[in-house]
Amino acid sequence: MSTRVAIIGAGPSGLAQLRAFQSAKQKGAEIPEIVCFEKQSDWGGLWNYSWRTGMDENGESAHGSMYRYLWSNGPKEGLEFADYSFEDHFDHPIASYPPRAVLYDYIIGRVEKANIRNLIRFNSPVRRVTYDEASEKFSIIVEDHEKGTEYTEEFDYVIVSSGHFSTPNAPHYPGFDTFNGRILHAHDFRDALEFKGKDLLLIGTSYSAEDIGSQCWKYGCKSITVSHRTAPMGYDWPDNWKEVPLLTKVEKNTCTFNDGTQKKVDAIILCTGYLHYFPFMEEKLKLRTNNRLYPVNLYNGVVWVDNPKCMYLGMQDQWFTFNMFDAQAWYVRDVIMGRLDLPSKAKMFADIDQWRADEDAQSDDYGAIKFQGNYIDHLIRLTDYPTFDIQGSCEAFYQWKKHKKKGIMTFRNHGYTSVMTGTVAPPHHTSWVEALDDSLESYLQTGPDVQD
Ligand SMILES: Cc1cc2nc3c(=O)[nH]c(=O)nc-3n(C[C@H](O)[C@H](O)[C@H](O)COP(=O)(O)OP(=O)(O)OC[C@H]3O[C@@H](n4cnc5c(N)ncnc54)[C@H](O)[C@@H]3O)c2cc1C
Ligand SMILES: NC(=O)c1ccc[n+]([C@@H]2O[C@H](COP(=O)([O-])OP(=O)(O)OC[C@H]3O[C@@H](n4cnc5c(N)ncnc54)[C@H](OP(=O)(O)O)[C@@H]3O)[C@@H](O)[C@H]2O)c1
Repeated sequence: MSTRVAIIGAGPSGLAQLRAFQSAKQKGAEIPEIVCFEKQSDWGGLWNYSWRTGMDENGESAHGSMYRYLWSNGPKEGLEFADYSFEDHFDHPIASYPPRAVLYDYIIGRVEKANIRNLIRFNSPVRRVTYDEASEKFSIIVEDHEKGTEYTEEFDYVIVSSGHFSTPNAPHYPGFDTFNGRILHAHDFRDALEFKGKDLLLIGTSYSAEDIGSQCWKYGCKSITVSHRTAPMGYDWPDNWKEVPLLTKVEKNTCTFNDGTQKKVDAIILCTGYLHYFPFMEEKLKLRTNNRLYPVNLYNGVVWVDNPKCMYLGMQDQWFTFNMFDAQAWYVRDVIMGRLDLPSKAKMFADIDQWRADEDAQSDDYGAIKFQGNYIDHLIRLTDYPTFDIQGSCEAFYQWKKHKKKGIMTFRNHGYTSVMTGTVAPPHHTSWVEALDDSLESYLQTGPDVQD
């Protein structure tokens, strides 16, 4: 029997893995038998957004934390595939911060061309993964929602690409039980229009707080108050946006903060991040980590050291995304296909320690971006994934950070240079603040250029 490989999840990471194998096949290699299990009815992971996001028709949590009107929060020049540029897909240059539908179209365009959809079993949540030392096989229990059955299959390798921004980290604060309004986690935020005319409290200071706050502001909420545990975001916010210390208690609708100040609000949104959560993995295979650039126990960021036939993709905190998943997927493919050897366990652990020490030595976001760029570069050098100017991609991120400092509501009006094509992205036809229609059709229209 040929080697069997299971991929769990058909989001950007799982699709990168499918594309990596297909690329080897295209070049004439004999590849293992691949089965990708996806619990939703379509591919794209959290970019596959519909009104069902939340809970689907099968009672599965559908899954991603995506919401309407989301535009890329980083420049597309930092995430572009090296084997399929935005210009390859859209036939002409597009602006640098595409909305969700445009990014979805781009991700899916590549895999449609690769013709790999038949390798995915949809409506098929993986319930349990165990490893049997004697047979050296993984047993995977899968629910088939189409047939209404459950079955078990055996595999030689398992690649977990189920994402890690879906299980909310939801702290409790005194008075939450009797708050006279809605309390939700960013995971359950769907549409900024729900909060039009409302006073909002957001807790947390990272991308969800920044972006959900900006969305609600753009679509007409009355005020935003952002409460921080460590430090405020410190951008030059609009007048109806305040940053305050940590929430201490809630009484009816009144929130009290660490410095004694108070604010009456209509709703509270916990933008407090996510937990890595793999309930379907047996204990000895289960990744337990916080959200960081080099999680524990994963050699080269992907190989589970205690059982190197188990791999995890995309488990890092993410500056880079789609091209990092590619770099990982090509590397994992070559390990599985025997093109690359793994060192001893001791050497793998020592290597992980060194990367983690390097991560810990970074003192700011610029260092963190460079660190992740170096990691991708390291992986790409090991495989035939097309090399690209990673330093140039880092530059796009550095400029992005400066543009955010200059104008948190205008940074998306800027364009950056693609390291894949050399093209400078044109400005979008409408400034982000005015662009209320986030559809693909609207985004791809050409029109007057916008400057900030
Ligand atoms: C709100 C939000 C906005 C973001 N915005 C950006 C952005 O603008 N730009 C950017 O580059 N990145 C962004 N990200 C980062 C995001 O993590 C990546 O873009 C990307 O979606 C990660 O891909 P993934 O395949 O690893 O995970 P996911 O996209 O989460 O896909 C995982 C897939 O696994 C499936 N799955 C899960 N469990 C099972 C199971 N047990 N059995 C079968 N299938 C399963 C899920 O249904 C899903 O399809 C954002 C993240 C969030 C939460
Ligand atoms: N438009 C977009 O593209 C978009 C929008 C939203 C999200 N995203 C993506 O989604 C991912 C997740 O981002 P995220 O912001 O949800 O999570 P995150 O980056 O992990 O940040 C979590 C935040 O929660 C705070 N926090 C955690 N526990 C807390 C507690 N008990 N009390 C108070 N604060 C607490 C942290 O504060 P400390 O600093 O004190 O630890 C931090 O500010 C990122 O990859 C991001 O890029 C993208």
